[in-house]
Amino acid sequence: MQLGGPTWTVRLGRRDSLAAYQEAANRELPAPFSDLSVLISMFRDKGLTPREMTALSGAHTIGQAQCSQFDDRIYNDRNINATFAALRRRTCPPGGSSALAPLDGETPYQFDNGYYRELVARRGLLQSDQALFNGGSQDALVRRYSVNGAAFARDFAAAMAKMGAIRPPPGTPGEVRLVCNRLAIDHMASMIPRLALALWLFSALVSAQLSSTFYSATCPNLQQVVRSAMADVVRQNPRNAAFILRLFFHDCFVNGCDASILLDGTPAFASEKFANPNRNSAQGYEIIDAIKARVEAKCPATVSCADVLALATRDGVALLGGPTWTVRLGRRDSLAAYQEAANRELPAPFSDLSVLISMFRDKGLTPREMTALSGAHTIGQAQCSQFDDRIYNDRNINATFAALRRRTCPPSGSSALAPLDGETPYQFDNGYYRELVARRGLLQSDQALFNGRSQDALVRRYSVNGAAFARDFTAAMVKMGAIRPPPGTPGEVRLVCNRVN
Ligand code: HEM
Repeated sequence: MQLGGPTWTVRLGRRDSLAAYQEAANRELPAPFSDLSVLISMFRDKGLTPREMTALSGAHTIGQAQCSQFDDRIYNDRNINATFAALRRRTCPPGGSSALAPLDGETPYQFDNGYYRELVARRGLLQSDQALFNGGSQDALVRRYSVNGAAFARDFAAAMAKMGAIRPPPGTPGEVRLVCNRLAIDHMASMIPRLALALWLFSALVSAQLSSTFYSATCPNLQQVVRSAMADVVRQNPRNAAFILRLFFHDCFVNGCDASILLDGTPAFASEKFANPNRNSAQGYEIIDAIKARVEAKCPATVSCADVLALATRDGVALLGGPTWTVRLGRRDSLAAYQEAANRELPAPFSDLSVLISMFRDKGLTPREMTALSGAHTIGQAQCSQFDDRIYNDRNINATFAALRRRTCPPSGSSALAPLDGETPYQFDNGYYRELVARRGLLQSDQALFNGRSQDALVRRYSVNGAAFARDFTAAMVKMGAIRPPPGTPGEVRLVCNRVN
Protein backbone atom coordinates (compact mmCIF):
# COMPACT_ATOMS: atom_id res chain seq x y z
CA MET A 1 0.00 0.00 0.00
CA GLN A 2 2.79 2.39 0.93
CA LEU A 3 4.19 1.85 -2.56
CA GLY A 4 0.90 2.79 -4.17
CA GLY A 5 -0.49 -0.73 -4.57
CA PRO A 6 -3.95 -2.06 -3.75
CA THR A 7 -5.06 -2.99 -0.24
CA TRP A 8 -7.18 -5.87 1.08
CA THR A 9 -8.64 -7.23 4.29
CA VAL A 10 -6.27 -9.71 5.93
CA ARG A 11 -7.96 -12.72 7.48
CA LEU A 12 -6.23 -13.74 10.72
CA GLY A 13 -5.84 -16.71 13.06
CA ARG A 14 -2.74 -18.43 11.63
CA ARG A 15 -0.62 -20.48 14.02
CA ASP A 16 3.17 -20.73 13.99
CA SER A 17 4.89 -24.00 13.05
CA LEU A 18 6.92 -26.12 15.43
CA ALA A 19 9.57 -26.80 12.79
CA ALA A 20 11.18 -25.48 9.61
CA TYR A 21 11.12 -27.42 6.32
CA GLN A 22 14.33 -26.81 4.39
CA GLU A 23 13.83 -29.72 1.98
CA ALA A 24 10.34 -28.53 1.07
CA ALA A 25 11.70 -25.03 0.53
CA ASN A 26 14.26 -26.52 -1.86
CA ARG A 27 11.60 -28.43 -3.70
CA GLU A 28 8.52 -26.27 -3.72
CA LEU A 29 9.67 -22.73 -4.50
CA PRO A 30 9.89 -22.00 -8.24
CA ALA A 31 13.26 -21.24 -9.87
CA PRO A 32 13.87 -18.12 -12.04
CA PHE A 33 14.41 -20.32 -15.09
CA SER A 34 11.10 -22.20 -14.71
CA ASP A 35 9.03 -22.38 -17.88
CA LEU A 36 5.29 -21.77 -18.02
CA SER A 37 4.23 -25.39 -17.52
CA VAL A 38 6.45 -25.72 -14.44
CA LEU A 39 5.10 -22.46 -12.99
CA ILE A 40 1.51 -23.52 -13.60
CA SER A 41 2.05 -26.88 -11.97
CA MET A 42 3.94 -25.55 -8.94
CA PHE A 43 1.20 -23.02 -8.23
CA ARG A 44 -1.49 -25.62 -8.93
CA ASP A 45 0.16 -27.84 -6.28
CA LYS A 46 -0.66 -25.04 -3.83
CA GLY A 47 -4.27 -24.78 -5.01
CA LEU A 48 -3.67 -21.67 -7.15
CA THR A 49 -4.90 -21.32 -10.74
CA PRO A 50 -2.74 -20.17 -13.71
CA ARG A 51 -4.61 -16.85 -13.59
CA GLU A 52 -3.73 -16.41 -9.91
CA MET A 53 -0.12 -17.34 -10.66
CA THR A 54 0.05 -14.64 -13.34
CA ALA A 55 -1.53 -12.04 -11.02
CA LEU A 56 0.79 -12.94 -8.12
CA SER A 57 3.83 -12.66 -10.41
CA GLY A 58 2.89 -8.98 -10.69
CA ALA A 59 4.64 -8.65 -7.31
CA HIS A 60 7.75 -8.26 -9.52
CA THR A 61 6.52 -4.72 -10.17
CA ILE A 62 8.76 -3.84 -7.20
CA GLY A 63 12.19 -4.97 -6.03
CA GLN A 64 15.49 -6.12 -7.51
CA ALA A 65 17.16 -9.31 -8.70
CA GLN A 66 20.81 -10.34 -8.79
CA CYS A 67 22.47 -10.82 -12.18
CA SER A 68 23.09 -14.49 -11.36
CA GLN A 69 19.32 -15.00 -11.54
CA PHE A 70 18.95 -13.73 -15.10
CA ASP A 71 22.37 -13.74 -16.80
CA ASP A 72 21.42 -16.72 -18.92
CA ARG A 73 18.42 -14.73 -20.13
CA ILE A 74 20.29 -11.58 -21.16
CA TYR A 75 23.14 -13.49 -22.82
CA ASN A 76 21.32 -16.39 -24.46
CA ASP A 77 17.57 -15.86 -24.78
CA ARG A 78 15.86 -14.97 -28.06
CA ASN A 79 12.52 -13.73 -26.69
CA ILE A 80 14.06 -10.58 -25.28
CA ASN A 81 14.14 -6.97 -26.46
CA ALA A 82 17.67 -6.48 -27.87
CA THR A 83 18.17 -2.96 -26.46
CA PHE A 84 17.03 -4.10 -23.04
CA ALA A 85 19.35 -7.14 -23.10
CA ALA A 86 22.30 -4.92 -24.11
CA LEU A 87 21.47 -2.47 -21.31
CA ARG A 88 21.41 -5.18 -18.67
CA ARG A 89 24.62 -6.76 -19.99
CA ARG A 90 26.39 -3.44 -19.30
CA THR A 91 26.13 -4.06 -15.55
CA CYS A 92 25.95 -7.88 -15.53
CA PRO A 93 28.96 -10.03 -16.52
CA PRO A 94 28.15 -13.49 -17.95
CA GLY A 95 28.38 -15.74 -14.86
CA GLY A 96 27.27 -15.47 -11.24
CA SER A 97 27.44 -11.76 -10.35
CA SER A 98 25.41 -10.43 -7.42
CA ALA A 99 25.00 -6.95 -8.91
CA LEU A 100 21.38 -5.81 -8.93
CA ALA A 101 18.82 -4.75 -11.51
CA PRO A 102 15.16 -3.72 -11.03
CA LEU A 103 12.55 -6.39 -11.76
CA ASP A 104 10.34 -3.72 -13.29
CA GLY A 105 12.66 -1.25 -15.01
CA GLU A 106 9.81 1.16 -15.74
CA THR A 107 8.71 2.06 -12.17
CA PRO A 108 10.81 -0.04 -9.76
CA TYR A 109 9.23 1.20 -6.54
CA GLN A 110 5.69 1.89 -7.62
CA PHE A 111 3.28 -0.98 -7.11
CA ASP A 112 1.45 -0.72 -10.44
CA ASN A 113 0.91 -2.72 -13.63
CA GLY A 114 4.22 -1.57 -15.23
CA TYR A 115 5.57 -5.12 -14.89
CA TYR A 116 3.07 -6.38 -17.47
CA ARG A 117 3.91 -3.59 -19.90
CA GLU A 118 7.54 -4.69 -19.60
CA LEU A 119 6.55 -8.27 -20.42
CA VAL A 120 4.59 -7.21 -23.50
CA ALA A 121 7.70 -5.29 -24.63
CA ARG A 122 9.76 -8.51 -24.00
CA ARG A 123 11.65 -6.74 -21.26
CA GLY A 124 10.82 -9.27 -18.51
CA LEU A 125 13.92 -9.66 -16.34
CA LEU A 126 13.71 -13.33 -15.29
CA GLN A 127 13.02 -16.21 -17.63
CA SER A 128 10.08 -17.05 -15.34
CA ASP A 129 8.72 -13.51 -15.89
CA GLN A 130 8.89 -13.62 -19.69
CA ALA A 131 7.46 -17.17 -19.59
CA LEU A 132 4.09 -15.48 -18.88
CA PHE A 133 4.18 -13.69 -22.22
CA ASN A 134 5.78 -15.98 -24.69
CA GLY A 135 3.04 -17.16 -27.02
CA GLY A 136 1.41 -19.35 -24.38
CA SER A 137 -1.85 -19.47 -22.41
CA GLN A 138 -1.17 -16.38 -20.26
CA ASP A 139 -0.49 -13.89 -23.08
CA ALA A 140 -4.03 -12.49 -23.21
CA LEU A 141 -4.15 -11.98 -19.45
CA VAL A 142 -0.74 -10.26 -19.41
CA ARG A 143 -1.94 -7.92 -22.18
CA ARG A 144 -5.11 -7.19 -20.22
CA TYR A 145 -3.24 -6.36 -17.00
CA SER A 146 -0.79 -4.20 -18.99
CA VAL A 147 -3.62 -1.86 -20.03
CA ASN A 148 -5.97 -2.29 -17.08
CA GLY A 149 -4.36 -1.53 -13.71
CA ALA A 150 -7.67 -1.96 -11.87
CA ALA A 151 -8.13 -5.51 -13.18
CA PHE A 152 -4.60 -6.39 -12.03
CA ALA A 153 -5.15 -4.78 -8.61
CA ARG A 154 -8.40 -6.71 -8.10
CA ASP A 155 -6.95 -10.07 -9.14
CA PHE A 156 -3.70 -9.52 -7.21
CA ALA A 157 -5.51 -8.69 -3.94
CA ALA A 158 -7.82 -11.71 -4.30
CA ALA A 159 -4.91 -14.04 -5.07
CA MET A 160 -2.91 -12.69 -2.10
CA ALA A 161 -5.85 -13.40 0.20
CA LYS A 162 -6.09 -16.92 -1.24
CA MET A 163 -2.34 -17.61 -0.98
CA GLY A 164 -2.41 -16.26 2.57
CA ALA A 165 -5.00 -18.89 3.42
CA ILE A 166 -2.75 -21.85 2.54
CA ARG A 167 -2.76 -23.92 5.70
CA PRO A 168 -0.38 -26.53 7.07
CA PRO A 169 -1.69 -30.09 6.54
CA PRO A 170 -4.67 -30.88 8.81
CA GLY A 171 -3.55 -31.99 12.25
CA THR A 172 -0.17 -30.22 12.12
CA PRO A 173 0.40 -28.83 15.60
CA GLY A 174 1.04 -25.10 15.97
CA GLU A 175 1.57 -22.46 18.61
CA VAL A 176 1.84 -18.73 19.09
CA ARG A 177 5.60 -18.17 19.22
CA LEU A 178 6.89 -15.67 21.74
CA VAL A 179 9.73 -14.63 19.47
CA CYS A 180 9.52 -15.43 15.80
CA ASN A 181 12.90 -17.11 15.36
CA ARG A 182 12.49 -19.86 17.93
CA LEU A 183 9.82 -22.15 19.41
CA ALA A 184 7.85 -21.01 22.44
CA ILE A 185 8.81 -24.26 24.22
CA ASP A 186 12.55 -23.50 23.77
CA HIS A 187 11.92 -19.97 24.94
CA MET A 188 10.02 -21.21 28.00
CA ALA A 189 12.73 -23.74 28.80
CA SER A 190 15.06 -20.92 29.71
CA MET A 191 12.44 -19.41 32.01
CA ILE A 192 10.70 -22.23 33.87
CA PRO A 193 12.38 -24.75 36.16
CA ARG A 194 13.80 -27.70 34.23
CA LEU A 195 11.99 -30.19 36.43
CA ALA A 196 8.61 -28.75 35.54
CA LEU A 197 9.47 -28.94 31.88
CA ALA A 198 10.60 -32.57 32.21
CA LEU A 199 7.35 -33.46 33.97
CA TRP A 200 5.31 -31.79 31.26
CA LEU A 201 7.16 -33.67 28.52
CA PHE A 202 6.85 -36.94 30.44
CA SER A 203 3.10 -36.59 30.88
CA ALA A 204 2.75 -35.86 27.16
CA LEU A 205 4.64 -39.09 26.44
CA VAL A 206 2.72 -41.24 28.89
CA SER A 207 -0.62 -40.16 27.50
CA ALA A 208 0.56 -41.43 24.12
CA GLN A 209 1.61 -44.88 25.27
CA LEU A 210 0.87 -48.11 23.46
CA SER A 211 0.61 -51.53 25.07
CA SER A 212 1.62 -55.04 24.03
CA THR A 213 -1.56 -56.45 25.61
CA PHE A 214 -3.95 -54.00 23.96
CA TYR A 215 -6.01 -56.71 22.18
CA SER A 216 -5.42 -59.59 24.64
CA ALA A 217 -9.07 -59.63 25.64
CA THR A 218 -10.73 -58.39 22.46
CA CYS A 219 -8.74 -60.30 19.82
CA PRO A 220 -6.67 -63.04 21.43
CA ASN A 221 -5.67 -64.70 18.10
CA LEU A 222 -4.54 -61.53 16.41
CA GLN A 223 -0.82 -62.30 16.40
CA GLN A 224 -1.27 -65.79 14.93
CA VAL A 225 -3.60 -64.53 12.20
CA VAL A 226 -1.11 -61.89 11.07
CA ARG A 227 1.87 -64.20 11.39
CA SER A 228 0.37 -67.00 9.30
CA ALA A 229 -0.80 -64.57 6.61
CA MET A 230 2.69 -63.08 6.41
CA ALA A 231 4.24 -66.54 6.28
CA ASP A 232 2.08 -67.26 3.22
CA VAL A 233 2.97 -64.12 1.32
CA VAL A 234 6.68 -64.21 2.17
CA ARG A 235 6.82 -67.84 1.02
CA GLN A 236 5.28 -66.74 -2.30
CA ASN A 237 7.77 -63.88 -2.67
CA PRO A 238 10.36 -62.85 -0.06
CA ARG A 239 10.26 -59.29 -1.37
CA ASN A 240 6.78 -58.97 0.15
CA ALA A 241 8.48 -58.63 3.54
CA ALA A 242 10.50 -55.71 2.15
CA PHE A 243 7.39 -54.05 0.74
CA ILE A 244 5.66 -54.16 4.12
CA LEU A 245 8.70 -52.93 6.06
CA ARG A 246 9.01 -49.93 3.76
CA LEU A 247 5.27 -49.20 4.01
CA PHE A 248 5.57 -49.09 7.79
CA PHE A 249 8.47 -46.61 7.60
CA HIS A 250 6.61 -44.43 5.09
CA ASP A 251 3.50 -44.58 7.26
CA CYS A 252 5.18 -43.67 10.53
CA PHE A 253 7.12 -40.75 9.06
CA VAL A 254 3.97 -39.08 7.77
CA ASN A 255 1.74 -37.86 10.59
CA GLY A 256 2.69 -40.82 12.79
CA CYS A 257 1.89 -44.54 12.46
CA ASP A 258 -1.78 -44.16 11.57
CA ALA A 259 -2.16 -46.19 8.34
CA SER A 260 -2.65 -42.91 6.44
CA ILE A 261 -0.48 -44.41 3.66
CA LEU A 262 -3.11 -47.11 3.00
CA LEU A 263 -5.95 -44.71 2.15
CA ASP A 264 -7.06 -44.22 -1.44
CA GLY A 265 -7.67 -40.60 -2.44
CA THR A 266 -11.04 -38.89 -2.06
CA PRO A 267 -12.29 -35.44 -3.07
CA ALA A 268 -11.25 -34.32 0.46
CA PHE A 269 -7.64 -35.50 0.31
CA ALA A 270 -5.02 -36.86 -2.07
CA SER A 271 -3.64 -40.35 -1.44
CA GLU A 272 -0.10 -40.78 -0.10
CA LYS A 273 0.16 -43.70 -2.53
CA PHE A 274 0.82 -41.07 -5.20
CA ALA A 275 3.27 -38.93 -3.23
CA ASN A 276 6.66 -38.72 -4.99
CA PRO A 277 8.50 -41.23 -2.75
CA ASN A 278 5.66 -43.77 -3.10
CA ARG A 279 4.35 -43.39 -6.67
CA ASN A 280 5.47 -46.30 -8.90
CA SER A 281 7.61 -47.44 -6.00
CA ALA A 282 5.88 -48.41 -2.73
CA GLN A 283 4.03 -51.72 -2.94
CA GLY A 284 2.25 -54.22 -0.73
CA TYR A 285 -0.87 -52.21 0.09
CA GLU A 286 -3.13 -55.09 -0.92
CA ILE A 287 -1.23 -57.45 1.39
CA ILE A 288 -2.24 -55.36 4.39
CA ASP A 289 -5.79 -55.02 3.03
CA ALA A 290 -5.99 -58.83 2.81
CA ILE A 291 -4.54 -59.46 6.28
CA LYS A 292 -6.93 -56.91 7.73
CA ALA A 293 -9.83 -58.78 6.08
CA ARG A 294 -8.69 -61.99 7.81
CA VAL A 295 -8.46 -60.11 11.12
CA GLU A 296 -11.93 -58.58 10.61
CA ALA A 297 -13.35 -62.07 10.10
CA LYS A 298 -12.11 -63.06 13.56
CA CYS A 299 -12.43 -59.77 15.46
CA PRO A 300 -14.79 -57.35 13.72
CA ALA A 301 -14.20 -53.60 14.11
CA THR A 302 -11.51 -54.11 16.74
CA VAL A 303 -7.96 -53.94 15.37
CA SER A 304 -6.66 -50.86 13.59
CA CYS A 305 -4.96 -51.09 10.18
CA ALA A 306 -1.98 -49.27 11.71
CA ASP A 307 -1.54 -52.09 14.23
CA VAL A 308 -1.92 -54.75 11.52
CA LEU A 309 0.86 -53.02 9.57
CA ALA A 310 3.09 -52.85 12.66
CA LEU A 311 2.66 -56.59 13.35
CA ALA A 312 3.06 -57.62 9.71
CA THR A 313 6.30 -55.62 9.52
CA ARG A 314 7.76 -57.37 12.54
CA ASP A 315 6.76 -60.79 11.19
CA GLY A 316 8.18 -60.09 7.72
CA VAL A 317 11.58 -59.17 9.18
CA ALA A 318 11.63 -62.29 11.38
CA LEU A 319 10.57 -64.54 8.48
CA LEU A 320 13.67 -63.45 6.53
CA GLY A 321 15.93 -64.43 9.41
CA GLY A 322 15.97 -61.06 11.14
CA PRO A 323 15.40 -60.24 14.80
CA THR A 324 11.98 -60.13 16.39
CA TRP A 325 10.50 -57.79 18.97
CA THR A 326 7.35 -57.16 20.98
CA VAL A 327 4.99 -54.86 19.10
CA ARG A 328 3.17 -52.37 21.25
CA LEU A 329 -0.39 -51.87 20.06
CA GLY A 330 -3.33 -49.48 20.30
CA ARG A 331 -2.69 -47.21 17.31
CA ARG A 332 -5.68 -45.59 15.69
CA ASP A 333 -6.24 -45.11 11.96
CA SER A 334 -6.28 -41.65 10.47
CA LEU A 335 -9.30 -40.02 8.90
CA ALA A 336 -7.22 -38.47 6.12
CA ALA A 337 -4.07 -38.95 4.05
CA TYR A 338 -1.26 -36.39 3.90
CA GLN A 339 0.26 -36.43 0.44
CA GLU A 340 2.04 -33.09 0.84
CA ALA A 341 3.65 -34.19 4.10
CA ALA A 342 4.74 -37.45 2.44
CA ASN A 343 6.43 -35.40 -0.30
CA ARG A 344 8.12 -33.26 2.29
CA GLU A 345 9.03 -35.58 5.13
CA LEU A 346 10.31 -38.78 3.54
CA PRO A 347 14.04 -38.78 2.76
CA ALA A 348 15.22 -38.89 -0.85
CA PRO A 349 17.84 -41.41 -2.05
CA PHE A 350 20.31 -38.64 -2.81
CA SER A 351 20.08 -37.13 0.71
CA ASP A 352 23.43 -36.47 2.34
CA LEU A 353 24.21 -37.33 5.95
CA SER A 354 23.20 -33.99 7.42
CA VAL A 355 19.82 -34.12 5.68
CA LEU A 356 19.23 -37.70 6.86
CA ILE A 357 20.16 -36.81 10.43
CA SER A 358 17.88 -33.81 10.44
CA MET A 359 14.90 -35.58 8.83
CA PHE A 360 15.10 -38.40 11.40
CA ARG A 361 15.67 -35.91 14.21
CA ASP A 362 12.46 -34.16 13.14
CA LYS A 363 10.73 -37.45 13.98
CA GLY A 364 12.43 -37.74 17.37
CA LEU A 365 15.01 -40.29 16.17
CA THR A 366 18.73 -39.99 16.88
CA PRO A 367 21.51 -40.36 14.27
CA ARG A 368 22.29 -43.77 15.77
CA GLU A 369 18.67 -44.87 15.36
CA MET A 370 18.70 -43.53 11.80
CA THR A 371 21.77 -45.62 10.99
CA ALA A 372 20.24 -48.72 12.57
CA LEU A 373 16.91 -48.24 10.77
CA SER A 374 18.70 -47.84 7.44
CA GLY A 375 19.82 -51.43 7.94
CA ALA A 376 16.33 -52.24 6.60
CA HIS A 377 18.07 -51.97 3.24
CA THR A 378 19.58 -55.38 3.97
CA ILE A 379 16.52 -56.63 2.07
CA GLY A 380 14.64 -55.54 -1.03
CA GLN A 381 15.34 -53.81 -4.28
CA ALA A 382 15.66 -50.36 -5.77
CA GLN A 383 15.03 -49.07 -9.29
CA CYS A 384 18.02 -47.84 -11.31
CA SER A 385 16.45 -44.36 -11.43
CA GLN A 386 17.10 -44.11 -7.70
CA PHE A 387 20.84 -44.67 -7.96
CA ASP A 388 21.97 -44.06 -11.55
CA ASP A 389 23.65 -40.80 -10.60
CA ARG A 390 25.63 -42.75 -8.00
CA ILE A 391 26.91 -45.48 -10.31
CA TYR A 392 27.73 -43.10 -13.16
CA ASN A 393 29.07 -40.05 -11.28
CA ASP A 394 30.05 -40.78 -7.69
CA ARG A 395 33.64 -41.14 -6.51
CA ASN A 396 33.03 -42.86 -3.16
CA ILE A 397 32.00 -46.11 -4.83
CA ASN A 398 33.80 -49.38 -5.43
CA ALA A 399 34.71 -49.32 -9.14
CA THR A 400 33.92 -52.99 -9.83
CA PHE A 401 30.57 -52.61 -8.12
CA ALA A 402 29.71 -49.47 -10.10
CA ALA A 403 30.67 -51.22 -13.35
CA LEU A 404 28.53 -54.24 -12.43
CA ARG A 405 25.48 -52.11 -11.72
CA ARG A 406 26.00 -50.10 -14.91
CA ARG A 407 25.68 -53.34 -16.90
CA THR A 408 21.95 -53.46 -16.07
CA CYS A 409 21.27 -49.74 -15.50
CA PRO A 410 21.43 -47.22 -18.36
CA PRO A 411 22.53 -43.69 -17.34
CA SER A 412 19.10 -42.36 -16.59
CA GLY A 413 15.57 -43.13 -15.56
CA SER A 414 15.31 -46.90 -15.86
CA SER A 415 13.00 -48.93 -13.65
CA ALA A 416 15.16 -52.07 -13.77
CA LEU A 417 15.90 -53.42 -10.31
CA ALA A 418 19.01 -54.12 -8.25
CA PRO A 419 19.28 -55.48 -4.70
CA LEU A 420 19.89 -52.91 -1.96
CA ASP A 421 22.20 -55.42 -0.28
CA GLY A 422 23.95 -57.31 -3.07
CA GLU A 423 25.53 -59.76 -0.63
CA THR A 424 22.41 -61.39 0.82
CA PRO A 425 19.36 -59.68 -0.70
CA TYR A 426 16.71 -61.66 1.13
CA GLN A 427 18.42 -62.41 4.39
CA PHE A 428 17.77 -59.88 7.11
CA ASP A 429 21.32 -59.63 8.47
CA ASN A 430 24.12 -57.08 8.81
CA GLY A 431 25.37 -57.63 5.23
CA TYR A 432 24.19 -54.11 4.33
CA TYR A 433 26.84 -52.57 6.58
CA ARG A 434 29.60 -54.76 5.13
CA GLU A 435 28.57 -53.46 1.74
CA LEU A 436 28.83 -49.87 2.98
CA VAL A 437 32.32 -50.46 4.39
CA ALA A 438 33.30 -51.87 0.97
CA ARG A 439 31.82 -48.71 -0.62
CA ARG A 440 29.18 -50.83 -2.30
CA GLY A 441 26.18 -48.96 -0.87
CA LEU A 442 23.52 -48.77 -3.60
CA LEU A 443 21.86 -45.43 -2.85
CA GLN A 444 23.73 -42.21 -2.19
CA SER A 445 21.80 -42.07 1.10
CA ASP A 446 23.18 -45.51 1.98
CA GLN A 447 26.82 -44.65 1.33
CA ALA A 448 26.30 -41.32 3.15
CA LEU A 449 26.37 -43.37 6.37
CA PHE A 450 29.95 -44.45 5.66
CA ASN A 451 31.66 -41.57 4.01
CA GLY A 452 34.20 -40.19 6.46
CA ARG A 453 31.65 -38.66 8.80
CA SER A 454 29.98 -39.23 12.16
CA GLN A 455 28.33 -42.61 11.44
CA ASP A 456 31.43 -44.43 10.15
CA ALA A 457 32.34 -46.03 13.48
CA LEU A 458 28.81 -47.29 14.03
CA VAL A 459 28.57 -48.72 10.50
CA ARG A 460 31.87 -50.53 11.07
CA ARG A 461 30.58 -51.87 14.37
CA TYR A 462 27.34 -53.18 12.85
CA SER A 463 29.30 -54.68 9.95
CA VAL A 464 31.17 -56.99 12.33
CA ASN A 465 28.59 -57.35 15.09
CA GLY A 466 25.24 -58.62 13.87
CA ALA A 467 23.89 -58.84 17.41
CA ALA A 468 24.57 -55.16 18.07
CA PHE A 469 22.75 -54.27 14.85
CA ALA A 470 19.80 -56.53 15.71
CA ARG A 471 19.49 -54.99 19.18
CA ASP A 472 19.62 -51.39 17.93
CA PHE A 473 17.38 -52.08 14.95
CA THR A 474 14.61 -53.61 17.05
CA ALA A 475 14.78 -50.81 19.65
CA ALA A 476 14.63 -48.20 16.91
CA MET A 477 11.70 -49.97 15.20
CA VAL A 478 9.78 -49.90 18.49
CA LYS A 479 10.54 -46.21 18.84
CA MET A 480 9.66 -45.37 15.24
CA GLY A 481 6.49 -47.44 15.63
CA ALA A 482 5.48 -45.24 18.56
CA ILE A 483 5.44 -42.01 16.54
CA ARG A 484 1.93 -40.71 17.11
CA PRO A 485 -0.20 -38.28 15.17
CA PRO A 486 -0.22 -34.80 16.72
CA PRO A 487 -2.24 -34.74 19.97
CA GLY A 488 -5.91 -34.16 19.33
CA THR A 489 -5.88 -35.69 15.83
CA PRO A 490 -9.08 -37.74 15.53
CA GLY A 491 -8.77 -41.46 14.72
CA GLU A 492 -10.82 -44.61 14.28
CA VAL A 493 -10.53 -48.34 13.69
CA ARG A 494 -11.05 -48.62 9.95
CA LEU A 495 -13.07 -51.58 8.71
CA VAL A 496 -11.15 -51.74 5.44
CA CYS A 497 -7.72 -50.20 5.21
CA ASN A 498 -8.03 -48.24 1.97
CA ARG A 499 -10.92 -46.02 3.02
CA VAL A 500 -12.26 -44.32 6.11
CA ASN A 501 -15.41 -45.75 7.66
C1 HEM B 1 17.50 -43.31 5.45
C2 HEM B 1 16.71 -42.86 4.52
C3 HEM B 1 16.07 -43.72 3.48
C4 HEM B 1 16.02 -43.46 2.16
C5 HEM B 1 16.56 -42.22 1.45
C6 HEM B 1 15.35 -44.56 1.53
C7 HEM B 1 15.07 -44.64 0.17
C8 HEM B 1 14.69 -45.81 -0.47
C9 HEM B 1 14.59 -45.98 -1.89
C10 HEM B 1 14.84 -44.89 -2.92
C11 HEM B 1 14.23 -47.25 -2.14
C12 HEM B 1 14.02 -47.89 -3.51
C13 HEM B 1 12.64 -47.58 -4.02
C14 HEM B 1 12.45 -47.89 -5.48
O1 HEM B 1 13.43 -47.98 -6.21
O2 HEM B 1 11.28 -48.06 -5.90
C15 HEM B 1 14.09 -47.91 -0.88
C16 HEM B 1 13.74 -49.22 -0.70
C17 HEM B 1 13.48 -49.77 0.53
N1 HEM B 1 13.49 -49.12 1.75
FE1 HEM B 1 14.32 -47.33 2.12
N2 HEM B 1 15.03 -45.47 2.47
C18 HEM B 1 15.45 -44.99 3.68
C19 HEM B 1 15.26 -45.61 4.91
C20 HEM B 1 14.51 -46.75 5.11
C21 HEM B 1 14.03 -47.22 6.38
C22 HEM B 1 14.24 -46.50 7.70
C23 HEM B 1 13.34 -48.36 6.14
C24 HEM B 1 12.61 -49.24 7.11
C25 HEM B 1 12.81 -49.24 8.40
C26 HEM B 1 13.43 -48.63 4.72
C27 HEM B 1 12.95 -49.74 4.07
C28 HEM B 1 13.12 -50.01 2.72
C29 HEM B 1 12.92 -51.31 2.11
C30 HEM B 1 12.57 -52.59 2.84
C31 HEM B 1 13.13 -51.16 0.74
C32 HEM B 1 13.00 -52.21 -0.37
C33 HEM B 1 11.59 -52.20 -0.91
C34 HEM B 1 11.40 -53.04 -2.16
O3 HEM B 1 12.02 -54.10 -2.29
O4 HEM B 1 10.60 -52.62 -2.99
N3 HEM B 1 14.12 -47.60 4.12
N4 HEM B 1 14.36 -47.00 0.12
